[in-house]
Amino acid sequence: MCGIVGYIGTQSVEALLTTGLHRLEYRGYDSAGVAIVSENGLHIQKKEGKVDALESALGSSALDGTLGIGHTRWATHGPPSDANAHPHANATSDFALVHNGIIENYGAIRDRLKQKGYTFQSQTDTEALVHLIDDVRKETGLPLEEAVRQALTQVVGTYGIALVSADDPDLLIAARKGSPLILGIGDGEYFIGSDAAPLIEHTRQVVYLNDGEMAVLRRAGYEVKTIDNVTLEKEVHELEWSLGEIEKGGYEHFMLKEIMEQPTALEDCMRGRVDLDDNTIVLGGLHDVMDQLRSAERIIICACGTSWHSGLVGEYLIEHFARIPVEVEYASEFRYRKPILNENDVVLVISQSGETADTLAAVREAKQAGVLCLGICNVVGSTIARETDAGVYLHAGPEIGVASTKAFTAQVLVLAMIALKLAEGRTLSRAELAHSLQALAAVPDKVRQVLNMNDELREMANVYRYASNFLYLGRGYNFPVALEGALKLKEISYIHAEGYPAAEMKHGPIALIDRFMPVVFMAMKDSTYDKVVSNIEEVAAREGCVIAITDEGNGELDELCEYVLRIPETEEFLAPLLTVVPLQLLSYHIAVMRGCDVDQPRNLAKSVTVE
Ligand code: AGP
Repeated sequence: MCGIVGYIGTQSVEALLTTGLHRLEYRGYDSAGVAIVSENGLHIQKKEGKVDALESALGSSALDGTLGIGHTRWATHGPPSDANAHPHANATSDFALVHNGIIENYGAIRDRLKQKGYTFQSQTDTEALVHLIDDVRKETGLPLEEAVRQALTQVVGTYGIALVSADDPDLLIAARKGSPLILGIGDGEYFIGSDAAPLIEHTRQVVYLNDGEMAVLRRAGYEVKTIDNVTLEKEVHELEWSLGEIEKGGYEHFMLKEIMEQPTALEDCMRGRVDLDDNTIVLGGLHDVMDQLRSAERIIICACGTSWHSGLVGEYLIEHFARIPVEVEYASEFRYRKPILNENDVVLVISQSGETADTLAAVREAKQAGVLCLGICNVVGSTIARETDAGVYLHAGPEIGVASTKAFTAQVLVLAMIALKLAEGRTLSRAELAHSLQALAAVPDKVRQVLNMNDELREMANVYRYASNFLYLGRGYNFPVALEGALKLKEISYIHAEGYPAAEMKHGPIALIDRFMPVVFMAMKDSTYDKVVSNIEEVAAREGCVIAITDEGNGELDELCEYVLRIPETEEFLAPLLTVVPLQLLSYHIAVMRGCDVDQPRNLAKSVTVE
């Protein structure tokens, strides 16, 4: 997804912008650029490719400006190219703008402006906005910030923008509708970022812009107002993250760092919530809605991607423990199918970034229907976190790698805590709750034991790295893990992989079985084990290549499998927290061996803030 960084202050801005763009790289992009205002006017440099290419184009001679904006572009309209890269300037190049989002009525705007003599240098929707601002300013004679505000009232779609002008070296403009923007508050200097990553080393004081708001920043101060010109008093928040947390910490990739951080992330996720002394679960964020949640007739979980997979685990957890009906929906489907929502339904959305456009739309659909809407997010202050009625933060720390890992296990952990909390005193005795909490608390150390198998997983990766297809199979709580394992592999190694309920294999996929397609089974010794073993035998009988993940000490599968990975046992409902870890590591090592860009896989973005 596009990334935006902006600065106005007294520091030399060029290096500040390019460093900020590096910190935004994890969002996924295909080109980058900066616009810097110096005493010589407005200087724009933009390049297809990585930020390194932009830095090479900028050369060694740093421009002397202290005001500027930067952008990493994830193409939506027009292919990656120098011309389509941001920033985009008006015809006289006296102001430039960067944009994240989609301007849906850009065609009509462009056609109208072309009739007025405007020419277009790119295929982007963004350029239509630049010339619209220019046209409003010419037609009205208004100051630039007012022309921006009026132009934005004509825009249909989503935007996060930052704008600078050569005519006013003390002016930085920002506005958002649908694409996140944060203001960083410094001492006589101000920052803009799509998220906290480019700001954190400069300031921890931030202001979150909401949809329909814009900021006008000058070195002496800033003003926030609505696009309808209502001045607002905005609360200043303190960022929780540290710079160290958003850097690689000695690991080769963010993804490996985040896989290895899972024990700590799970401990942080439980901290202050699971009390083993009095056997209680405290979820402060749900305190005011717990009764309504307990009495829900149905819980509808909406999410995308990996978060949708954790939602599937949540369905098994909540229905097993609390006996409340749960449905899991792709947010992108939910938002368009006019879902039937009743007053005693509860919608629960799951989103690591808290910015996924489809999931945010599901929130708005639920709220429009007057249904209680809860959120499970990782990024504090994210849009979904702020727009839901209540929720639970993961406290997993920043997840930079595009492939979600620690967020998945933290999401499953939160869903387990919610399920147990809902069952407490109703469908779960105190003794059963105490036993479940003890098992929960033991998970981080068990994950550490699995992580210690990293070398074994690397060896496995070396064996299977050349496969063209993988099949992942699991039952019960491990069915969503099969889906997640397949997604991890395909999104970072580009190997085709599918996940299925193990029993479904006989309804089609078994036709694919041959010795060239690794079939990965989750075969923990749980209530479905015997059935899974039967499925393994069906694959083995057809010369299939079976990889099994099973309990420590279980030697029953060695004859049937090419590879058996033995991991610590745990309660059946907690299995996903352990069985997913080898799949994460296997995918990671295969992707590295295949020379893939593990942290920024092709075509992918960390947060899909466009539809
Ligand atoms: C998972 O590895 C992917 N990065 C992707 O499927 C992701 O889970 C999905 O885009 C949802 O993101 P969110 O949790 O931030 O909403």
